Amino acid sequence: ARSVTRGDDGVVRVAGVSAEALAESFGTPAYVLDESDFRARCRAWREAFGPDADVFYAGKAFLSRAVVRWLCEEGLNVDVCSGGELATALAGGMPAERIALHGNNKSAAEIRRAVEAGVGRIVLDSFEEIERVARAAERHGARQRVQIRVTVGVEAHTHEFIATAHEDQKFGLGLADGTAAEAVRRVLARPSLELVGLHSHIGSQIFDMAGFEVSARRVVGLLSAVRDEHGVELPEIDLGGGLGIAYTPQDDPREPHEIGKALGEIVTKECEAAGLAVPRLSVEPGRAIVGPSAFTLYEVGTVKPLEGLRTYVSVDGGMSDNIRTALYDAEYSVVLASRVSQEPPMLARVVGKHCESGDIVVRDAYLPADVRPGDLLAVPATGAYCRSMASNYNHTPRPPVVAVTDGAAREIVRRETEEDLLALDIG
Ligand code: LLP
Repeated sequence: ARSVTRGDDGVVRVAGVSAEALAESFGTPAYVLDESDFRARCRAWREAFGPDADVFYAGKAFLSRAVVRWLCEEGLNVDVCSGGELATALAGGMPAERIALHGNNKSAAEIRRAVEAGVGRIVLDSFEEIERVARAAERHGARQRVQIRVTVGVEAHTHEFIATAHEDQKFGLGLADGTAAEAVRRVLARPSLELVGLHSHIGSQIFDMAGFEVSARRVVGLLSAVRDEHGVELPEIDLGGGLGIAYTPQDDPREPHEIGKALGEIVTKECEAAGLAVPRLSVEPGRAIVGPSAFTLYEVGTVKPLEGLRTYVSVDGGMSDNIRTALYDAEYSVVLASRVSQEPPMLARVVGKHCESGDIVVRDAYLPADVRPGDLLAVPATGAYCRSMASNYNHTPRPPVVAVTDGAAREIVRRETEEDLLALDIG
């Protein structure tokens, strides 16, 4: 994984631009996104899966028009799960046929927009939705390509809130209870729907390949049951996203080529055993592409040593720009970004400026003992699910996303202002 890098002067730099120059130009807190690193990850995923597969970047991790342009240029597709993400993907110039729409409760308006835009696939998540999408396609006079999201019953070893394919949760249609097979029957009976494949997403921040492998086997199993029952071989399977990244040095993530190789082999082997043509494979990585490409830059405001405990270092952001620590007990690391210090490390906790004690950015951090107000701190690996889950808690304007490439930095999402916040408040 990429962490922040330092120049010869010891200060953190991205693509030649120093942390101080970034703070000077854009203020803090700010998300700093390394464009070439992002593009390199896109290419690594493309190469890992090859020309017979598709890589759908999961827009929920972070989406903006600039990112959509990069994805287009690097040959990735995009998965969206709301009208807002769909609008952003289209506004960024992603061709509609390269967009997939997800969600367990898509609204009628979202379905209509997706069908009218001509999205490449809608991933169906319930019986109600089969009817809704079928009717929307009929009204539009189109045949909508769809996949069915299957709950394969895999326990992914990750936080309960981000595991999605065990049975007791809201997503998908079950393999075990037969609802996925019933969904196939209902979709095949609707002439306005074209069933192109099956979809499974087992969870997020996963390091162990075993879950993906079981999922692939079970999805191929259903493919073969569909062939036996209906005489049709569905041409696609999507195995979702979820590959974990390194947030701390202890994390040991798999690389895209490892997952590409493992999934390709399993799908081929299982299909051969079942006498099926090998379907076109797709995956939906979000975190593994954008997560490591960005860090958050904060300025230290106060330093409070608590005798016998640790030192609380308060920064100018917090749970409004990174809810993951509070929500999932997520672990992050932190570095002093604006200068070099020879002081020994001290046990610290990096906290935000919000009005609750759970407002923690980095729970256990080692920072030089002379850390002081005005220092800049960088928290690596905040590219995924930080800006996209940011809030205006305490009426805090959300930070900008600054893209850096070849020595030049620019905002791709500008900083929110108090005027932006007040603009919604119509008195
Ligand atoms: N495909 C589907 C259908 C998904 O639901 C997700 C994530 C992905 C792909 C992308 O997963 P990734 O490769 O990024 O792990 N907010 C949580 C993560 C929620 C993920 C939801 N679905 C977090 O901050 O950890």
